[in-house]
Formats: sequence, structure tokens, C-alpha cells
Amino acid sequence: MKKGKFIVLEGPDRCGKSTQAKMLLNYLITQGNDVILTREPGGTRTAERIRQIVLEPGLSVTAMTELFLYEASRAQHTEELILPALEAGKTVLCERYTMSTCAYQGYGRGIPLRIIRTLNRIATQNLVPDLTLVFLMSDKYFTERGEYLYSDRLEREDIAFRKKMRRGYLNMIKRTPNAYLVDADKDIMDVQTRVQEILKEHGI
Ligand code: TMP
Repeated sequence: MKKGKFIVLEGPDRCGKSTQAKMLLNYLITQGNDVILTREPGGTRTAERIRQIVLEPGLSVTAMTELFLYEASRAQHTEELILPALEAGKTVLCERYTMSTCAYQGYGRGIPLRIIRTLNRIATQNLVPDLTLVFLMSDKYFTERGEYLYSDRLEREDIAFRKKMRRGYLNMIKRTPNAYLVDADKDIMDVQTRVQEILKEHGI
């Protein structure tokens, strides 16, 4: 039985969610929580191997293969790491989960959302986050933040793709219980303050 809280950090590439996840991890530890930070794709040895395949630049991966690889990583990660940690009463912070697949493979690549939702349910064994924080920034920041960074296969997608995803995230926030939009254009510390406020509102 699930006892711990499952908190997911979502958003487009370079929205600052990794920085915020680390800050949140430190905050929760100082508050005395037993907490782990993990990520998708990846999080376990097998799922990290799947991550390498799905993100390798230049590798030919069809949209459907990509979808199955993300779901395969999720199935492994959920069963091997996330569910046991929640059952042990730990708080689990996860960078990306099912909403990313709807945003990228659904809204972005155009795979029907009903197919993705079905696969999500299978891969997650119906686990849903207690809280989803969606970090969204304006396009201007994506280019500025990305200029000096290595780009993986997904990050090389064009601006039209990112616009579709952004619209997707906004739609999903409206229809997902306990999902919050966090304005990622703000200063790092202000973003973290907002994140901690949302957690407190949820008694975490
Ligand atoms: P990351 O760089 O934030 O760790 O994510 C890796 C990339 O994988 C990122 O571009 C988003 C993408 N992605 C999907 O397209 N679908 C998914 O289901 C997940 C979890 C990530």
C-alpha cells in the first residue's frame, strides 16, 4: 500500500526543473522527510539504458518506437523504484512522468492521446502523482538557456513542436487534479518559494 507522497516536476526542456528538483530535495530533507529524487526516462539501471537509446542524437527512432521506449522505461522505473519507495513511506520526487509523454508524443508528435493514456495506465499500474508542478517559461528563455548546452535528440525539435507542447501542458494542467502551473521565467529563488508554498498548501 502506498504511504509516501509522489511529486512530479514537469515542463519543456530547459525550464529549470532539474535545478528546482534539487532545491526541493534539499528543502524536504531539512524538513526531516525521507525523500528520493529520480527521473524519467531513467531512474533504474535498465531504464537508464533505455534513456541512452531514446535520447541518442542521430539514431533513427520512429514516433511509435519512441513512445514504447518511454513507456518501457516507466514500467521498469515504477515497479522497481517508485512503488517500493512509496510503500516504504518515502516522498518520491520525479523529474517527468506520464504528462511528458502526453506533451511530447501526444501534443508534439500527434500520437492520439487515448493511446498514450492507455499505455500510461499500464506502465504505471495506475499510479498517479499526488502533486504535479509544471514549469513553463517563454520561448525567449529556451534559446538563451540552451545556447551553451549540449542538445539531445528531443531538444533539437523546432519551435512549432515546442509551441504545441506548451499548449498541451496548459490543457493538461486544467484537466489534471493537483497539477499547478509554475512561472519559470521568474528568478530561481522566487520559483522555489512558489514550489514550497504549493507543497505546504498540500500539507507536504
Ligand atoms: P530530460 O532531459 O528532461 O531528462 O528529458 C529527456 C527528454 O525526453 C526531454 O526532451 C523530454 C523527453 N521525454 C519525452 O519525449 N517523453 C517522455 O515520456 C519523457 C519522460 C521524456
